[in-house]
Amino acid sequence: MTFFWSSWITILSFACWLGILAVLLMVLKYKPEVEEDGTTGHEYDGIREYDKPLPKWWLVIFFGSIVWAVAYWIFFPAMFPKHWDGIATVEVDGETVPWTSHNELNSELESNNKVFTDNFEKSILVKADATDAAQTLSELSELQNTLKRSDNPPADLQSKIDEKITDLAPAIEKLAQNPNALKVGSRLFLQNCAVCHGSNAKGATGYPNLTDNDWLYGGEAANLLTTLHKGRVGGMPAWRDQIGEEGVRAASEYVLSLSDNNGHKNNGELDKTLVAQGESIYDANCALCHGKDGKGMISTGAPNLTDNIWLYGGERETVRDTLRYGRAGVMPEWETKLGNERIMLVVSYVYSLSDRSAATKNGANVKAAASMPKTAESVPVVSSN
Ligand code: HEC
Ligand code: HEC
Repeated sequence: MTFFWSSWITILSFACWLGILAVLLMVLKYKPEVEEDGTTGHEYDGIREYDKPLPKWWLVIFFGSIVWAVAYWIFFPAMFPKHWDGIATVEVDGETVPWTSHNELNSELESNNKVFTDNFEKSILVKADATDAAQTLSELSELQNTLKRSDNPPADLQSKIDEKITDLAPAIEKLAQNPNALKVGSRLFLQNCAVCHGSNAKGATGYPNLTDNDWLYGGEAANLLTTLHKGRVGGMPAWRDQIGEEGVRAASEYVLSLSDNNGHKNNGELDKTLVAQGESIYDANCALCHGKDGKGMISTGAPNLTDNIWLYGGERETVRDTLRYGRAGVMPEWETKLGNERIMLVVSYVYSLSDRSAATKNGANVKAAASMPKTAESVPVVSSN
């Protein structure tokens, strides 16, 4: 609020308060002349006016509200809010801060969250026989708070946090068997994830299907935890400047051959010459991220190109566009939005969606994915324009 408006409101409220006080005092002082029969002699349509004192209860309330207003001005930043914080305080993040509606909200969110966390431990972790996680969770949140508070955090703090996050993996496997945890997890999924991944988690173009056991970043509990805590950015470089339009066409043809051009009738027959040219382009430029055999790598987030599951589409022209312009799908981080406990619940739900028996399909390597780089910058980008 600007100084002008803050003064405007302050002066108006103060003038109003003074006015009310003055009217009341005036009325109390006013003593009309009373006639013998006890009336003032005024008569309106047969109704005669007496001079009776104001009821006590009414006066108490009236004076009470005048005093209340003064107390309010002292406690809260109501008068000249830019200059007077008021003496009321709330607790936020373990610190006592002046009252503001914003600080009060934060303080209430914190205490609600505390209730949620306690319930999570008592009724979910205990029932799922995963009480070990409570200790890990409290160590994790302590490390996170240290990181939040320090301007110059120790170099290994982040990696300690990452380790604690993946230490929660065994609990996820247990929670994924617990109907109560899954119920809360599915609700969290609908509220936060369904906009992008669909309410049935089957995804859409650019948004991966989470039920098919084909994982960009790995489908083990530790991989999923890391994905949710830190977010992911897909880094598929643009190739047109590097290998030219001819190169794009050849490499695309080779990509299509990797999945036997399976199921995309619109593509027609593949051009054998282009496939052969594309193979050497692939080996030189693409194998680095997608693997020599084209099966993808969870350490780079590069998809498996040999199955018939497409993130952006397996039509010839779509694949060419992917190569020409690159792709950069963004999975947001959820640590700051959901917190550690809710992430565990939603991850358990996602974990429960896919058929575990086929989990090793994409060479799921838990250790590699746990230390996954977070952004596209940290994967070996050959060209990115
Ligand atoms: C703004 C859209 C958006 C929202 C909201 C979102 N995601 Fe994602 N998510 C993505 C995108 C895009 C990717 C793929 C990233 C890439 O291309 O590298 C992804 C990837 C993932 C992956 C990795 C899939 C794999 O194959 O490895 C998981 C798991 C996941 N999301 C779960 C969730 C969950 C759980 C939520 C809700 C808490 C959520 N996502 C909310 C867009 C979103
Ligand atoms: C720096 C690592 C990297 C290199 C090098 C790379 N890719 Fe990719 N590629 C990715 C990533 C990561 C994705 C997923 C993008 C996303 O999630 O948004 C991807 C996606 C794709 C897709 C989309 C697959 C789908 O399911 O829709 C195709 C096709 C593809 N790459 C082909 C290639 C070809 C051909 C080359 C070489 C000319 C190449 N890539 C080089 C990392 C790479």
